[in-house]
Amino acid sequence: MLNKSLTLPCGRTIKNRIAKSAMSEYMASKKGVPGEGFAHLYRRWANGGVGLNITGNIMIDSRSKEEGRNTVLEDNTNLEAWKGFAEAGKENNTELWVQLNHPGRQARGHVSKRIVSASDVQLPFMKAIFKKPKALTEEGVLDIIHRFGNAAALAKEAGFTGIQIHSAHGYLLSQFLSPHVNKRTDKWGGTIENRSRLLMSVYAEIRKQVGSDFPIGVKINSADFQRGGFTEDDSLKVITMLSEVGIDLIEISGGTYENPVMVGLEKKQSTKDREAFFLDFIVKARQVTDTPLMLTGGFRTKSAMVQALENGELDLIGIARPFATYPDLPNQLISGEIEKLPSEVLTTGSKLIDGIAVLDVYWYADQMKRMANQQEPDPNLGTWGTFFRNTRAQIG
Ligand SMILES: Cc1cc2nc3c(=O)[nH]c(=O)nc-3n(C[C@H](O)[C@H](O)[C@H](O)COP(=O)(O)O)c2cc1C
Repeated sequence: MLNKSLTLPCGRTIKNRIAKSAMSEYMASKKGVPGEGFAHLYRRWANGGVGLNITGNIMIDSRSKEEGRNTVLEDNTNLEAWKGFAEAGKENNTELWVQLNHPGRQARGHVSKRIVSASDVQLPFMKAIFKKPKALTEEGVLDIIHRFGNAAALAKEAGFTGIQIHSAHGYLLSQFLSPHVNKRTDKWGGTIENRSRLLMSVYAEIRKQVGSDFPIGVKINSADFQRGGFTEDDSLKVITMLSEVGIDLIEISGGTYENPVMVGLEKKQSTKDREAFFLDFIVKARQVTDTPLMLTGGFRTKSAMVQALENGELDLIGIARPFATYPDLPNQLISGEIEKLPSEVLTTGSKLIDGIAVLDVYWYADQMKRMANQQEPDPNLGTWGTFFRNTRAQIG
């Protein structure tokens, strides 16, 4: 079942059912250019047998960055570097899609000149880093739509084989979807039709730029798990609308910086026992759409993956963190060499530091850096070293 191909509405075929979900690589130059390490890392994953590989989130505006080492795609100045990256990651008949993102209020202030959102609602913590955003003007909203389309056209020109729009995890498009952050009273706020207008316009603009036979997917929250926020009902309506306009793949996740449930924090034991965090929701999504569905978050055993595929609940298995330590996992799962992916429990021994979810992110980013340097990942890598190295890199 894992080895069965999947044909998308646009006609493109993915060779198997295992997708690597987006993981920010934390290693572009300060100008956002992907160096040679990206080619090494993505070639490593391509050789491990992944069917669809989605890049870490790529910024569409260098003035608004989620963190200091993000890649940025806004003009053709460094297209040769992007071409090298795409070429390597497509080896072995791998689908290689870019994930395009605007961080909105989840932009780090020290690397972002422009902090904007649907409304001027600031994150309630780490306020020195996540500054109060300015509400976008109508002109600003239109500029964002244009930038997504422009980045998509550049990605296609560079040789990537598809686009994923990041509309999850509390970034700009997800901020517009959520009444918790979107307090607008114009056509971009209020009803779910209005709150989703930006996402729908971004999709339409990208489709115009890349054409009808090029895959476009979206990553969307099942909910943002916030009182007064984006609900499951909202999400089902947006999924229906996206399906009606011909989106090729819908990846389900959940959470925001305020409530990072996407990596399995603060979840009930019963959910953990069921492995995939948002499985209950995807069953509801299946009722409203025939568009291919991908589920990410928590999948670790072959039996749970095969069962979800066989039940018809979803079409693609999304996996992120295990890919950083076990890049050959698709080949190994498909051949039967392994049945279960190890899940590291990361701790520094300090509750304070462990409490901030970035330790997880840094440790996995360090594993990706090892592969970018043509070394093998190291599941025994120490957590304190990771914490200090990455904190320094973010500040410097
Ligand atoms: C190092 C790291 C970087 C991540 N970067 C992104 C990203 O750029 N875009 C995104 O949509 N999700 C990102 N995520 C979230 C993952 O795609 C995924 O939703 C999450 O890790 C849960 O899946 P898993 O349990 O298989 O790891 C990141 C996660 C990690 C650990």
